[in-house]
Amino acid sequence: MAEIQRTFSIIKPDAVAKGATGEILRRFEAAGLRIIALKRVQMTEMLARGFYAVHKSRPFYADLVAFMTSGPVVMSVLEGPDAIAKNRELMGPTDSTKAPTGTIRGDFGTDIERNAVHGSDAPETARVEIAYFFNATEIQAPVEALAGS
Ligand code: RTP
Ligand code: MG
Repeated sequence: MAEIQRTFSIIKPDAVAKGATGEILRRFEAAGLRIIALKRVQMTEMLARGFYAVHKSRPFYADLVAFMTSGPVVMSVLEGPDAIAKNRELMGPTDSTKAPTGTIRGDFGTDIERNAVHGSDAPETARVEIAYFFNATEIQAPVEALAGS
């Protein structure tokens, strides 16, 4: 049986600017992913640099930070069966020019950098990325969890 997981999503500045936020969130829900936390944020340079620190020695790092801080983004926590892989499947490959029609990047991305969405790639990165941007009180949790039982 599929494991219930949480993953972290960012609708990037290009997709927010073109008015694709609603359609992308709709696709998450249609695929069985529940949106258990959601916010629209203008990322600061410090937050973007920290978030993409794993790429800091790559040639595209400065461009990536500039892009991610170029306008508001919409961040969410998605929960559901195999949420991490399911979200990556909905997103399509990193390079939007190679992403099939029907995937989020294929439909809303432009190239390898301006690719509409981010999604966590593993359980550990999901945990770290969710905690980087969301407080526990911003995530919808079952009553038992709130009671600490
Ligand atoms: P993401 O982390 O955003 O979900 O994307 P990903 O796993 O598919 O790709 P990753 O290798 O983690 O790269 C992170 C983001 O950096 C930008 N990028 N630009 N110019 C380039 O060659 C290049 N390569 C990657 C993209 O915005 C990519 O999503
Ligand atoms: Mg990645």
